[in-house]
Amino acid sequence: MTTIATTTPRTTHADLQSWVDEVAALTQPDEVVWCDGSQEEWDRLTTQLVENGTFVRLDPAKKPNSFLCQSDPTDVARVEDRTFIASEREEDAGPTNNWVDPAELKATMTELYRGSMRGRTMYVIPFVMGHLDATVPMFGVEVTDSAYVVTNMRIMARIGTPVLQTMEELQAPFVKGLHSVGDPLVDGRPDVPWPCSDTKYIAHFPETREIWSYGSGYGGNALLGKKCYALRIASAMARDEGWMAEHMLILKLTSPQGTTHYVAGAFPSQCGKTNLAMIEPALEGWSAEMVGDDIAWMRFGPDGRLYAVNPEFGLFGVAPGTGMHTNPQAVRTIEQGNSIFTNVALTDDGDVWWEGLSEAPPSHLTDWKGNDWTPESGVPSSHPNSRFTTPAKQTPMIAPEYDNPDGVPIDAILFGGRRKTTVPLVYESRDWAHGVFVGATLSSETTAAATGAVGVVRRDPMAMLPFIGYHAGDYMQHWLDIGAHADPAKLPKIFQVNWFRRDEEDGSFLWPGYGDNARVLKWVVERLDGTADAVETPVGLVPTPGAIDTTGLGIGDEQLAKALRVDVEDWKAEVPLIEEWFARIGDRLPAPLADELATLKEHVEQA
Ligand code: GDP
Ligand code: PGA
Ligand code: MN
Ligand code: MN
Repeated sequence: MTTIATTTPRTTHADLQSWVDEVAALTQPDEVVWCDGSQEEWDRLTTQLVENGTFVRLDPAKKPNSFLCQSDPTDVARVEDRTFIASEREEDAGPTNNWVDPAELKATMTELYRGSMRGRTMYVIPFVMGHLDATVPMFGVEVTDSAYVVTNMRIMARIGTPVLQTMEELQAPFVKGLHSVGDPLVDGRPDVPWPCSDTKYIAHFPETREIWSYGSGYGGNALLGKKCYALRIASAMARDEGWMAEHMLILKLTSPQGTTHYVAGAFPSQCGKTNLAMIEPALEGWSAEMVGDDIAWMRFGPDGRLYAVNPEFGLFGVAPGTGMHTNPQAVRTIEQGNSIFTNVALTDDGDVWWEGLSEAPPSHLTDWKGNDWTPESGVPSSHPNSRFTTPAKQTPMIAPEYDNPDGVPIDAILFGGRRKTTVPLVYESRDWAHGVFVGATLSSETTAAATGAVGVVRRDPMAMLPFIGYHAGDYMQHWLDIGAHADPAKLPKIFQVNWFRRDEEDGSFLWPGYGDNARVLKWVVERLDGTADAVETPVGLVPTPGAIDTTGLGIGDEQLAKALRVDVEDWKAEVPLIEEWFARIGDRLPAPLADELATLKEHVEQA
């Protein structure tokens, strides 16, 4: 780590240097630090964060090299209502994104950034999403006044000197990500543990591939490589260049016979991606390995198949609900340390705890707001969107293919969400266009991953509603175009799953989920191989009663039948909701999707 005056040229990458100079002149930090990504830099920053009261160092015997961070209670999730796609033309942002004229937004935000880093250090983080040795490495640079961001970025992305050197050699283009917590230290005011501002903007300029983020220090608002670059900006790049940037886990599955399949799954935030990516199959002989848990970039390979890479380097996982009985792989990953925990509770012996980590809560904790907590407190000890940031490579079940810059060929795509009713445990789409319809009409109950109401059903196309960097109708068309470009036999088959259906009588989950989801994966794989039975229903192909392997399953046939049931009345009620959604997309709704809706309507009316 080198401290420099803002005017000292630090890189031979001319465009980067002039941008950094420009940002420093605007934001007026006390110093500019170029991040090298080293262990020494991590040690220095984490020590400094402990001294500032931002981090608590956990007991190294329990969680080596790990830290707890409690954010400002107002800055705990992505802020969708403050997230903007500032495309040149309003119609290109579409009906699902907030839009402001880019010149106007830049003018507004420039005034916010003016002097916003006073009294602080400005860090320059060169990073690459995906592999540095990819055919086209995808560079970015985040400039930030948050050391919390730097430490999290070091876990979540490949950062530092090797990246900068390659950028310099290639004089490579890069995505510019400007981030400020918006809390300058002026008039001798001391710092607070979690600086942020009540004014927040998470702004994207898709044409110029720029990100301007202001006012929040949290996750997807502030770690700009993740949602802002790898989904919103990359989705616009992918549309222009014929590939796909998707909100998907990537899983490698090996059957008892030793055949391997790669499955991608798009579920909205807090709907089970990380859990499925780390599944320990409940079925004898099946094994699973993780390639990615949140984002997939997919491109056609020379053989005409779709290949997916995980552009990330770490996991930013939801803590509550993560325990040995649900996601043992995640527990083993974080136990190795080198992790940051945000908004969970602190135990009296210097470890972390959250709801679901163990069955019996400790008798005393310091909760995520810093208050004394006991099981009698009557409030959760951890925020529902509390997170662990941990290196992907520490996952015991990481697939060796994670290191392959060419990625893995995807055999099946799962779309899933949280639906208490209507959507069966699993069904298969009839073909690509029908599968795109299933994805385009995906719906889910909202979660704590974003600020706002929880538990409200909304349409979330391909689980990308908060992450599409352009018009949602054009995005659906891009999916159809991908299909049109390919040999249908080489395209992944598309399925919908729903782990969250409830029993109408007692409200309990009909399906045990987690490791038992392997039973659904087995059916999916057998459908690919043409060996599993399915029955046609108005919505698609559902497993026949005997087609799901129930060996050792803790639920009875009757309950399984409820989980799989396609209720025509439910679907009759679903059709107008889909019509309403498509009406919102407007005249950029692709005609084949309107045709698919007409077919669904016909099917449910005839059933
Ligand atoms: P992600 O944000 O999509 O990665 O979602 P996670 O995998 O972190 O899961 C979010 C929440 O859903 C956690 O509280 C999990 O315990 C819960 N969850 C995940 N998979 C299942 C499942 O199969 N069944 C049920 N009932 N809950 C699940
Ligand atoms: P996620 O995103 O809920 O999809 O993991 C949250 C975030 O990045 O803040
Ligand atoms: Mn996500
Ligand atoms: Mn996740």
